[in-house]
Amino acid sequence: MKTRLFTPGKIGPIKLRNRAIRSAAFEGMCPDGIPSRSLIDYHRSVAAGGVGMTTVAYVSVVNGGRTFSHQAYMHPGVIPHFKKLTDAVHAEGALASVQLGHAGNMGDSKVSGERAVAPSSVFTLFGLTLPRKMSEAYIEAMIDAHGDAVRMAREAGFDAVEIHAGHGYLISQFLSPYTNRRKDHWGGSFDNRTRFLKRIMDAAREAAGGKMALIVKMNMEDGFSRGMQKKEGIMVARLLEDYGADALVLSGGFVSQTPFFMMKGMTPHRDLISRQTDLLIKTGMIFFSRIMLKQYPYRELYFLEDALKVRESVSLPLVYVGGAVSLDGIERVLGAGFDFVQMARPLLCEPDFINRIRRDPGHVSFCKTCGGDGPCNTCVATMYQGEAECPYAGGKTPLPR
Ligand SMILES: Cc1cc2nc3c(=O)[nH]c(=O)nc-3n(C[C@H](O)[C@H](O)[C@H](O)COP(=O)(O)O)c2cc1C
Repeated sequence: MKTRLFTPGKIGPIKLRNRAIRSAAFEGMCPDGIPSRSLIDYHRSVAAGGVGMTTVAYVSVVNGGRTFSHQAYMHPGVIPHFKKLTDAVHAEGALASVQLGHAGNMGDSKVSGERAVAPSSVFTLFGLTLPRKMSEAYIEAMIDAHGDAVRMAREAGFDAVEIHAGHGYLISQFLSPYTNRRKDHWGGSFDNRTRFLKRIMDAAREAAGGKMALIVKMNMEDGFSRGMQKKEGIMVARLLEDYGADALVLSGGFVSQTPFFMMKGMTPHRDLISRQTDLLIKTGMIFFSRIMLKQYPYRELYFLEDALKVRESVSLPLVYVGGAVSLDGIERVLGAGFDFVQMARPLLCEPDFINRIRRDPGHVSFCKTCGGDGPCNTCVATMYQGEAECPYAGGKTPLPR
């Protein structure tokens, strides 16, 4: 079978051996903020398993931007650990990227000792938090922090950075009219709401210095009526092309409002509640989880139609993500004009998924049906307390649930 997947491709200054990228999916493998042996081993195994590039997920640009104690933040102390990871990935012939972001209103003061911040002081159900409105000086400091984090990523040997501008984290909170209610030049009009992102792009581009690929993960829409809608999603994509992004990853959803929009499939209520350590939130979840955590039907390549609309609107390389579970699906995406395909759940289940579909083109990831009509998403619940784990890891036959 002639495939596009196993052909090399370029993102800015870097060349990947093929079109498969391990998507940023929080590994939960940085106890006390320090990248562990498990994190290195996991990404090494994904690299050995055939991807062109693997992405370390959800690294905060500052301590105050962390949601979890087992989440890393960029500072000189983590560089040697990340260097071991990038060396291990490179030794397997793959490239390494790191996703950089800031939790904003989903920051946890118990983790960082700092009150959560946001564009505006809007109460969020995630962590039951009333964040502090960011001052002008704090906004400037966070823009600089993104630039500094890119510089440290470069020092650690990463080939690419992925700026997290989606899923309701800090940049996305600036873009979304629901969380950005500012009346100054950081809020209101599209031009103002995108100012934080534009300034971060300038800082990141300068720090990358043309040596690393600058990728941005963005929302095509937030997935709720008061959030960012599809029309503005396309405008954001066009803007990022103008601001020098080397590629865009197209996703959607807002963790504090529509957490499973980005993943679809089953909502693992029971697993999420049992892993919640905050008693107040746990009690609230027992009563309201089924109302608050909406379930979205899953189908293979569930974001493809929306992503095609973005494809028609920009000419930079695009990375598809969402429900790619088979070689057939991946080829459909690449044939539709996308340059790369990211995968999260299939590579949590089988780190060697890419080698498997090379050997057996008919192989389909268990993630397609492990929860019945779609993924069980148990892996999402596990990452809240520790390492993200797939109950069917290694390709075991899914158990009846
Ligand atoms: C356990 C888990 C953790 C995730 N963590 C992140 C994250 O830290 N950053 C992010 O941008 N997306 C995160 N995602 C979303 C994935 O990157 C991806 O966009 C989504 O799962 C759809 O891809 P898939 O169908 O290949 O799983 C996570 C997904 C899972 C399953």
